[in-house]
Amino acid sequence: MIHAVITAIGAYVPNYRLTNEELSTLVETNDEWITKRIGIKERRILKPDEGKGVSYLAVKAIEDLKSRHDFNPLEIEAVIFATTTPDYPLPSSAAITAARTGMTNAFCFDMEAACSGFIYALEIANGFIVSGKYKKVMVVAGDVLSAVTDYQDRNTCPIFGDGCGCALLEATTEEIGIMDSIIRSDGANPEYLHYYGGGSVHPASYETVDQRLHYIWQDGRIVFKRAVESMVKSCEDLLKRNNLSKEAVDWVVPHQANMRIIEAVARQFEVPIDKVMINIDKYGNTSAATIPICLWEWESRLHKGDIVLLTAFGAGFTWGATYLKWGYDPT
Ligand SMILES: CC(C)(COP(=O)(O)OP(=O)(O)OC[C@H]1O[C@@H](n2cnc3c(N)ncnc32)[C@H](O)[C@@H]1OP(=O)(O)O)[C@@H](O)C(=O)NCCC(=O)NCCS
Repeated sequence: MIHAVITAIGAYVPNYRLTNEELSTLVETNDEWITKRIGIKERRILKPDEGKGVSYLAVKAIEDLKSRHDFNPLEIEAVIFATTTPDYPLPSSAAITAARTGMTNAFCFDMEAACSGFIYALEIANGFIVSGKYKKVMVVAGDVLSAVTDYQDRNTCPIFGDGCGCALLEATTEEIGIMDSIIRSDGANPEYLHYYGGGSVHPASYETVDQRLHYIWQDGRIVFKRAVESMVKSCEDLLKRNNLSKEAVDWVVPHQANMRIIEAVARQFEVPIDKVMINIDKYGNTSAATIPICLWEWESRLHKGDIVLLTAFGAGFTWGATYLKWGYDPT
């Protein structure tokens, strides 16, 4: 049987550190509130003097992967880029990134599932590979949320940051890689988490700018509750369907949205917190990128065969969980 396995991880976060202290000069907030209620100390921001667009971060992430892993860009057959903040509505950031990194034999497209983007993209890449038609697919997941964050809204601006991760998926007949997944969405209530400006309902205009429609807006309490419920349920259902006990799980990698969400998921799913990858304090919520950035930071502690559960929740609403057996030992 063919499985799709992650054989390499790369990531990049921009240089500029936006601290809670600096945020406190922009909106009525403070380090103590943000640390206690969200768990973030700083987030990285892509400033124009460093680079522009999510493809800038993606190229850096792929260069990072290439510097540490065996990787021939010409062998990549598809590039799937999960992002809510592409360089442009068109052309795709996937095509731009592929051209800049030499993945010139690949077909390329962007997809949007907000903060669940990485697990959605893995699902698609998995389908391509297990079909037998494709052997090497690059999944890129990145966002420049600072481009759509309202730095006058204290309910959202402390949360978000910029970053990008990438994962090389390859076909294998070994019993490793993506084993199963549960991926869901519910578009009944877009009003709870959105940015409405610039689409076909509200094309960009002076009015959409005046109404601040080009920024993310959320009802934080509703999103918080739905995020915890959805991530816990997808993980539980996935374990049940695969006859796995909680004790068998080596690592849980939750989307990094809020430290209290992560803690609630760990508590309700009943996994010890030291099995949960957490780096929200350093990077905030980088949307599609949080999970691959965690895998990248923990790469040296992951071993071949480790049972890893990825779980995410985001705008849409979108959510789900992926069960995988890690594909390689640290080098
Ligand atoms: C947004 C979020 C951090 C707010 O935290 P919270 O504990 O729920 O806070 P509340 O919304 O209940 O607000 C409590 C108070 O803090 C205030 N507050 C909100 N943001 C603040 C800030 N940055 N600094 C200081 N006070 C703040 C509120 O105005 C409110 O004041 P009030 O009681 O006088 O009205 C939290 O709801 C959250 O993380 N939600 C999920 C968001 C998310 O993950 N989004 C991305 C989805 S992937």
